[in-house]
Amino acid sequence: MNRASQLPPLLPLLNLFLILSSLPNPSTAGTESFIYGGCSQLTYAPGSPFESNLNSLLTSLVNSATYSAFNKFTIYGSSQQDIVYGLYQCRGDLSMPDCADCVTQAVSQIGVFCSSTTGGALQLQGCLIKYDNTSFLGVEDKTVVLKKCGPPLGYDSDLMSRRDAVLDSLDNGGGLFRVGGSGEVQGMAQCVGDLNANQCQDCVTAAVGKLKSDCGAAAYGDMFLAKCYVRYSTGGDYSQAGSGSSSSHDQQGQTSKTLAIIIGMLAVVALIIIFVSFISRSLEKKGGGK
Ligand SMILES: *[C@@H]1O[C@H](CO)[C@@H](O)[C@H](O)[C@H]1NC(C)=O
Repeated sequence: MNRASQLPPLLPLLNLFLILSSLPNPSTAGTESFIYGGCSQLTYAPGSPFESNLNSLLTSLVNSATYSAFNKFTIYGSSQQDIVYGLYQCRGDLSMPDCADCVTQAVSQIGVFCSSTTGGALQLQGCLIKYDNTSFLGVEDKTVVLKKCGPPLGYDSDLMSRRDAVLDSLDNGGGLFRVGGSGEVQGMAQCVGDLNANQCQDCVTAAVGKLKSDCGAAAYGDMFLAKCYVRYSTGGDYSQAGSGSSSSHDQQGQTSKTLAIIIGMLAVVALIIIFVSFISRSLEKKGGGK
């Protein structure tokens, strides 16, 4: 009796193991790892024309990402209510196959992340996708969506002046995608492709200013505004959110390895307990039979 009641709680543990182990390994999917997501509060009805328009929009994003780093779409329905606006933007240094993989991944995640909402955005390391039923295409938006500052570096005037120099070079550089570096200090800026040059410049300047004022002497900084982002890292082990430095990938790999080992051990323990309880029950039955 007691053993039988011990058994059921172990089964969910095994399910958990199966689900987690089927997740993609973050160390092999650097450009596809999650940064942020947001959803509107309003929802659409399942099976509505809006839903089918949204599905065609998401399909368009995936198809377009095989040949372009940016694209925007408007899907018109029979009524004004059913219009869906959407876009994607891949990081400027991604190859086309990587861009397509990233957008495919983002599209498959946003349906789960934003369940039946009329608007949603998902930023992965390598790409952003965004849709809404009100137009935001070509509109500059400097709302802070995600701010992340690393641990303070302590007083290191050389590192900080190089950090400022890298941020200034990003601010002064032209184009939608900008990279800069000085020694270990690396930075990048990316605008969403629906902005014109002036809007992009204005957005990058705002993000650089916010990084300097809000992240102070932080080891790394990420400033994601709605239509552009600026990120920097100063190298070293603390740059978890660093812009694709090899150290950040190694750390993610370590964490997922450790997690996999712990989960694996739990699963083995669970299997042993189930096995032992099965054996002892069948022994009990045998004993009872005689
Ligand atoms: C967006 O969808 C919501 C919920 O269905 C609706 O209330 C709102 O009027 C829609 N906005 C536009 C511009 O259609």
